[in-house]
Amino acid sequence: MIDQFGRKIEYLRISVTDKCNLRCVYCMPMEGLDWLKRQSILSFEEIADIVRVMAPMGLCKVRFTGGEPLVRKDLWKLVEMVAQVPGIEDISLSTNAILLAEQGQSLRDAGIDRVNISLDSLKADRVDAISRRPGSFHRIMRGIEVAQELDFHPIKINVVVIGGQNDDEIEDFALMTKDKPWSVRFIELMPTGSNLDLSAKSFVSCQEVLSRLRSISELHPVTGPVGNGPATYFKFPEAKGTVGVITPMSHNFCDRCNRMRLTADGQLRPCLFGDIQTNLRDALRETRDIVPLIEETLRIKPERHHLIQGSMEGSGGLVALSQTGG
Ligand code: 5AD
Ligand code: SF4
Repeated sequence: MIDQFGRKIEYLRISVTDKCNLRCVYCMPMEGLDWLKRQSILSFEEIADIVRVMAPMGLCKVRFTGGEPLVRKDLWKLVEMVAQVPGIEDISLSTNAILLAEQGQSLRDAGIDRVNISLDSLKADRVDAISRRPGSFHRIMRGIEVAQELDFHPIKINVVVIGGQNDDEIEDFALMTKDKPWSVRFIELMPTGSNLDLSAKSFVSCQEVLSRLRSISELHPVTGPVGNGPATYFKFPEAKGTVGVITPMSHNFCDRCNRMRLTADGQLRPCLFGDIQTNLRDALRETRDIVPLIEETLRIKPERHHLIQGSMEGSGGLVALSQTGG
């Protein structure tokens, strides 16, 4: 799958649910969102069908996301189905790790190779406040421990930088990479419908993050761990892990975009933001051929997203990243 800008598309992010067991302040309102109805959500068989169609077209990497993917019952069964599709070589998971201690082993056995875990602070009270769920810090830390025990590799830790809430911990997060073989990635806060105020007031640029990191110690650019996603990576001398920055607000990664997204209700989205999506679900349920729909979605994949800080413009009306799988 090559798009009109010459980008090779080989990676599909599959959102398996729009629901979540946390309520992170930058993601969702306290009361949650209008969840998708049960019957509009793709079944495991339908998701696997789409992967089976896309694999011969060039799909080789799959990531499961949400919402929070582990709240979808028996996710391991879907992982097993997708792992059996010829051509799928790499299967990963983005999770908040709340349920990872319970499910890690079955997911590993089913075929998950590596995990990205969201952790926005190293302080229990802050994680509980940012995620608006008391007790989450300890569950997440236990989840990370289990991820290490199960030898998921590499472990990537995602930190959304929020001015005044966790930006004083940038150094502490980065220093962990001296001893731990993790990849800690700082993500710029992206505006969506449910966080416009926060994303306007509390935005911290990754330039700022990098200048803080450089004041700790020398920082060398490195090629990142497997996954070649949107992050740019660096390493402190002698460190076991790496630090990365993900800068959605400066548009610098769209030119190497290698992905499309599948929402929980079966919409194929060529870009995280914007309003282009193709309804694969209805076509599947009407037993129509979805290959032309996938080809057409690829053809209209935009050159870049058009997000603007503190604005809904360019977001395509997205209320939260959990609706498209982040
Ligand atoms: N801006 C930046 N990152 C976000 N995430 C969720 N919502 C936003 C946002 N508005 C992050 C999560 C997770 C990743 C998939 O996306 O914290 O680490
Ligand atoms: Fe859930 Fe992730 Fe959104 Fe937090 S950022 S509420 S963990 S989907």
